[in-house]
Amino acid sequence: MTGKQIIVLRLGHRPERDKRITTHVGLTARAFGAEGLLLASDDRAIADNIESVARRWGGNFYVKNNVNWKKEIQSWKNNGGKVCHLSMYGLNLSDVESDIKNWHKIMIIVGAEKVPPEVYDMADLNVAVGNQPHSEVAAISVTMDRISDYDPLKQEFGDAELSIVPTSRGKKVIDNTNSDNINNN
Ligand SMILES: C[S@@+](CC[C@H](N)C(=O)[O-])C[C@H]1O[C@@H](n2cnc3c(N)ncnc32)[C@H](O)[C@@H]1O
Repeated sequence: MTGKQIIVLRLGHRPERDKRITTHVGLTARAFGAEGLLLASDDRAIADNIESVARRWGGNFYVKNNVNWKKEIQSWKNNGGKVCHLSMYGLNLSDVESDIKNWHKIMIIVGAEKVPPEVYDMADLNVAVGNQPHSEVAAISVTMDRISDYDPLKQEFGDAELSIVPTSRGKKVIDNTNSDNINNN
């Protein structure tokens, strides 16, 4: 992967109700070019599930389970990283995307339940993907598409067990672990 170093920090994941959306946060972050997901809750099963999908579809995406969000933000900033907190209350992405494009090492933060006020203070920018409520998954994908140095829809994932041959109808999936195996179902 080329371009910026991006990680996503997921706050407020509730294992009993956010499994699906947090999985989608992780998979979307990976698909659009993040190197990893920091999960500020303890849910090893979710972390394993995202990493297992990531392994099969290639690349080196990782999930760090049960992180201390404050320490992660502080250490990211101490190491020269910038922090973009996605919130519908923030500055409109269309007005700040050119600033973010100049950043090279970016932590994108998304919430689930109410985000602690300290996060708003620690962030370099609080950014709204439009000032209407919607979803953390949509917010990540639009942001990453807007700030990327390349087309994130066209990136390659190395050492994939499975890869897709784009096709106008049906499904073509190659099992790279078996050279004879193209699944046309
Ligand atoms: C479903 S929302 C819940 C937010 C929560 N009720 C609050 O007031 O903090 C979950 C997350 O989606 C993201 N999100 C939702 N709408 C957004 C928007 N318009 N722009 C940026 N991020 C958004 C934010 O990261 C938010 O923390």
